[in-house]
Parts: sequence; C-alpha cells; structure tokens
Amino acid sequence: MRQPLVAGNWKMNGSSGSVTALVEGIKAGIDAVTAAEMTVCPPYVYIPQVATMLAGTAISFGAQDVSDQEAGAYTGEVAPGMLFDVGCKYAIVGHSERRSIYGESDEFTARKFAAAQNAGLVPILCVGELLEEREQGITEQVVERQLDAVINLEGVGVFGTAVIAYEPVWAIGTGKTATPDQAQEVHAFIRARLAGLDQAIADGVQILYGGSMNPGNAAELLAMQDIDGGLIGGASLKPDDFLAIGKAANN
Ligand code: 13P
Repeated sequence: MRQPLVAGNWKMNGSSGSVTALVEGIKAGIDAVTAAEMTVCPPYVYIPQVATMLAGTAISFGAQDVSDQEAGAYTGEVAPGMLFDVGCKYAIVGHSERRSIYGESDEFTARKFAAAQNAGLVPILCVGELLEEREQGITEQVVERQLDAVINLEGVGVFGTAVIAYEPVWAIGTGKTATPDQAQEVHAFIRARLAGLDQAIADGVQILYGGSMNPGNAAELLAMQDIDGGLIGGASLKPDDFLAIGKAANN
C-alpha cells in the first residue's frame, strides 16, 4: 500500500505574516486529513519559521530546490545538508520552472537528486512534457528521458526512497488539468518503466500528479490506480483548498 502524499509547492509566494496565517490554517484543519501525509515546501527563507510552527505535528516540510553541491564556494546556493539540518524531509528537484526558466538540464537535475538523497533528503523528482511535446505525441519519450537521467546516474534502486511527480507543463498554473485518464496513462507508463528494471521499486514508489489540482478535481484524480497524491501549486496557498485536497485522499 502506498500512502497518499499531498505536497504544497508555494513557489515564490508569501511573507512572514502570510506564512504564519497559512500554516496556522493548515494546522487547524489537519485532523480531518486521515490518510494522506501532508507536506509543504516554502521558499527557503521561511523554512525555519515553518519548522518551528510545525514542530510536534504530523505535517512535514521540504524545499523547492536544492544545490547539487555539498558545501563551499557556490554563491547563492543552498546545500542539501543545510536543508536536512533545519528539518526538511523533502526537496523538489527538476520542477519545470527550474528546467524551462533557469535552463536546468536532465543531467543537472539528476545530480541534484543524488545530492539530496546523499544528504538524507527524499527527492521529489518532477517530470512532464510541454504542450508542443504532447501535441507531437512524444510525451512518453520526454518523461522517459527525464527519468532515465536519474536511473543512468544512480540506478533504479534510488527510487526506493524518492517520490516522482508527473506535472504536464501545459497544466501548471493554467487552470487546465490533465483528465484523470490522461494523467493515469502517464503515471502507469512511469511505473511500468521502473517495473521493467525492478518490480518492487515500481510497486512502492509514490507518483504524484501536479498541474492545476484543486478541491474540485482532486478526488477523481486521486482515485486513479497509479496516482498516489498531488504536488499542488496555487491551491496550496489557501489552507481550506489544500486541506480539501488532503481530505480527498481519505477514501
Ligand atoms: P498549480 O497547481 O498552480 O498548477 O502548480 C502546479 C505545480 O507546479 C506544483 O509544483
């Protein structure tokens, strides 16, 4: 049995005040979320604040990105060991905004994945195709290439302690959600790709869906066989919406 995981990616949003209100709101309603693990990924600077507020709760937290390096002269970077040190459980790697806006390659993402895992973090590897790639019919090739960058560097075994998030880029922040069938198809492809190398790893890995997931569409997405949770952007900034998605995983 794979436990559902609902992760909030706050992206570059918030202030100390809004972070306090958001976390208080989530804590106030968390008891109604009975099955899913809930986690939040604030901007780096708010992680210590969130850590303090979440102490003693079952809500975990992580970072939205991580350096591929351990320590040293890397101005502006944040090391995976630092994130682990302040209590992060997860680090998102390879989000499409990192790939497309900041030019991060499959190989660079794979090195971040490895660095995060070596420091004790659970990487959340984002994969997903652009609209034109879907229209060209190459969704599976794109997702396979992104997955294989990690498998080629480290082997399939690393997915024993990692999470995958399928985020079709055309569905992110657009209000366009993949249909449950469209999402399930790619999730099943990802699991089958891993199963070809290691069935137990494939059976155990959580594969999240991301892209305009909201309280209105979460239940039908989460009901699909290979969708084990969500990576939530916009809706994770509203406590009631984020909690509603968590509750959609109760059954
Ligand atoms: P939205 O939920 O805002 O579409 O964002 C999805 C996402 O990119 C999560 O990482």
